[in-house]
Amino acid sequence: MTMTTILRKMAPAAMAIILVAAIFAACGPGKAGKEPAAAATAPVAAPEPILAPVPPMGFNTWNKFGCEVDETLIRQTADVMVETGMLEAGYKYLVIDDCWQVDRGADGRIIADPKRFAGGMKALADYVHSKGLLFGLYTDCGPKTCQGRPGSFGFHDIDAATYAEWGVDYIKVDWCYADDLDARKEYTSFRDALRRAGHPIVLSICEWGRNDPWTWAKGVGQLWRTTADIGDNWESVVWIIGANSRHADAAGPGGWNDPDMLEVGNGGMTLDEYKTHFSLWAIMAAPLMAGNDLRAMTEETKSILLNKEVIAVDQDPLGVQGRVVIERGYGGQVWMKPLADGSKAVAFVNTTDRELAQYVRWSQIGIPAGPAKVRDLWAHEDKGVHTDTGSKYDERFEVKIPAHGVVMVRISPGQ
Ligand code: GLA
Repeated sequence: MTMTTILRKMAPAAMAIILVAAIFAACGPGKAGKEPAAAATAPVAAPEPILAPVPPMGFNTWNKFGCEVDETLIRQTADVMVETGMLEAGYKYLVIDDCWQVDRGADGRIIADPKRFAGGMKALADYVHSKGLLFGLYTDCGPKTCQGRPGSFGFHDIDAATYAEWGVDYIKVDWCYADDLDARKEYTSFRDALRRAGHPIVLSICEWGRNDPWTWAKGVGQLWRTTADIGDNWESVVWIIGANSRHADAAGPGGWNDPDMLEVGNGGMTLDEYKTHFSLWAIMAAPLMAGNDLRAMTEETKSILLNKEVIAVDQDPLGVQGRVVIERGYGGQVWMKPLADGSKAVAFVNTTDRELAQYVRWSQIGIPAGPAKVRDLWAHEDKGVHTDTGSKYDERFEVKIPAHGVVMVRISPGQ
């Protein structure tokens, strides 16, 4: 290999180091040559910790409780997150959304509602941590939050320092009263303030996809909303799935498209609709933030939120956002998400009001011709080995999907 070929194959960063070293060697190190080589002594910046190698999971107060938040709710929620197995299933962030804050002090420090959070945020965070959970709060880039509480405009450093002092691990930063601001600049400034505060805090960017965050938010925050707010209804879920799916390229370990928090268990959708909602969030490697009352979950709701096989698809370390691989015009879609072990998660979705049969060929989902094992992730059943040799009259894998429903499987090549 010639020197030029070696250089061409090198990563740009490595090349830059070599060039700097070469220039240094050519120009210095001074007459006596006594100064040590720069490369040997220059401080090496510690790599940034990856705060969200997989999509964050947890609970957020907004969808169910709106402004009705207080420390009793948070303590009880922390307790049940452990008791119900939510924490064990991966839901580790407990986030208080809007309305916990009432004012700023003369020193600029944000003040939590003294009636609703009488014990203070530090004590509450300590309690949440004592349960093995992580603690999150909410603010806004503008001067006010969406509910008119004090926002963080002009207060990034003091807020970041306060959060760090309280032990906050996650901050959702909204975009109300911020239309005149530059989103990339504001969120970057927030990130830098969080870094200066010296405590690792996940930054959840919530500007509703207004400023194309999928083009700049990776490296600024760990998740960024791609749409307006979710509603507890089927139309909203279908609309969000379509909008969020357009930005699949942007997602990956460290930074995720956020199609908003879950509505599972809030009562506005059927069991099948909630299963589709949850399955598609998992196929799209979305953050999974439960938004229901965890203290009063039905068995049905638990069977969705605690479905470990579907959660494993969401949390797969390969970190690829799945996509539609087959769009059948009449309301049937096949989605595929490649997984780290070489298997594929496949979701057959039916947006029509009637049962639908759907099939797939291995070649359409990246499975090599031949046998493959199929596991049903909702029935929790092995569906045997199916063989698709690729020939025209060969077996196709076919399923029946209920109205507004989903069939979700994991297909692994081989016997
Ligand atoms: C916005 C956000 C929601 C929620 C509310 C709170 O609408 O998008 O997720 O945080 O504000 O006021």
